[in-house]
Amino acid sequence: MIIDKAESLKGTLTVPGDKSISHRAVMLGSLSEGDTYIRGFLKSADCLATIDCFRRMGIDIEENEDRLIIHGKGLHGLCAPKEPLNAMNSGTTTRILSGILAGQDFPVTIIGDESLSRRPMKRIIDPLTRMGCRITSVNGNNCLPLTIHGGCLSGIRYESPVASAQVKSCVAMAALYADSPVTITEPYLSRNHTELMLRGFGGNVTSFTDPETGRPACTVMPNPRLTGQSVTVPGDISSAAYFIAAALLVPNSEVTLKNVGINPTRDGILRVARAMGGSVEVTNLRSEGGEPTADLIIRSSALHGTTIGGALIPTLIDELPVIAVMAACAEGTTVIRDAGELRVKESDRLSLIAANLSAMGVSLTETEDGIIIEGKPLKMAPLRGVSVDPKKDHRMAMAFAVAGLVAEGPTKILDAGCVDISYPGFFEDLASLGA
Ligand code: S3P
Repeated sequence: MIIDKAESLKGTLTVPGDKSISHRAVMLGSLSEGDTYIRGFLKSADCLATIDCFRRMGIDIEENEDRLIIHGKGLHGLCAPKEPLNAMNSGTTTRILSGILAGQDFPVTIIGDESLSRRPMKRIIDPLTRMGCRITSVNGNNCLPLTIHGGCLSGIRYESPVASAQVKSCVAMAALYADSPVTITEPYLSRNHTELMLRGFGGNVTSFTDPETGRPACTVMPNPRLTGQSVTVPGDISSAAYFIAAALLVPNSEVTLKNVGINPTRDGILRVARAMGGSVEVTNLRSEGGEPTADLIIRSSALHGTTIGGALIPTLIDELPVIAVMAACAEGTTVIRDAGELRVKESDRLSLIAANLSAMGVSLTETEDGIIIEGKPLKMAPLRGVSVDPKKDHRMAMAFAVAGLVAEGPTKILDAGCVDISYPGFFEDLASLGA
């Protein structure tokens, strides 16, 4: 895909449904009694992988034009798949599904693509093993393929070393099958869609600050009766992030993004955009199933550098590649720290951001858990168009497409089809704004 420098971006967009919420709706719908109706489901490669896994375990899932219908079979209604389950590129499918499989009385193997097969799974193997599940990494490297022999699980208290919603959700799903309550604490609060949706389906989940450690915590009660629900999935703020950045950076722009999920565990991009001097207006605030949504109006702004770390990181973890592009075009230094998790995403995002921004002419220092970017305002032409290999990482492809909108000379995104992992139609939507 070739991206040219844009004169201005104008218009209104509705970004596709939230990826995290779409995965969870299929999973909880499958484990519920009765039908679940999902509107706004994200039909991207990752979420389709989740659907495929549940179909292979005997769940009937109807895909209509405007909604998905899951004919749930209850907590104990899944059956053994004939072949290994393929999570493709999706870490969310792998990790949350593993928690569900830990509670089944049949063994299952999960496989994935090359990128997913490099990602760390010890973070779920440890707590599931403590609960009594036999889970082994077939190649002994704590990566996929994983074979899971589920069964009788015990309640535990788990202090997760990482602020990861996938780990938290994995343990929370296994907790549904445990013999006593499970408490999970994490260093910082990660996205809480599982807690909110589990409650909506009839589960018993309490969120609190752990008095002993001061850490965010939740307790999940076992063996609930989950019943099918109607779920409306809000637009994905992680997809909106590319247009937020693009509209802030490209001169003479005004873009309205309708129906974007702004759950406070996900809205770090809005806080950072404002801290950098960006004009972000939030209107029409409402709530769907406990998930706050709003329309966002973004106008071009002169940005300045900022510091991003600590508790803010989990609230914008997937947005850091495009935030780095914003930082490159902002006056002054931006420091990103405490973001070592970026090294174990679909690619090593810290090293790819550093390599590609450097190739575009940006001065930066890559650190172990972050990056320090010496930004320059647009009038000093901070970026030059180059050829970018996103290494099949959808978020890298979209972040550098945004960089291309403000670079001097054309930017070429290789293998741009990888955006289908989370956002089929991304380039068409960008073009509809005048790019
Ligand atoms: C997700 C959690 C995050 C995020 C991922 C989706 C989820 O991963 O990066 O894209 O849906 O739970 P971690 O749990 O590894 O932080």
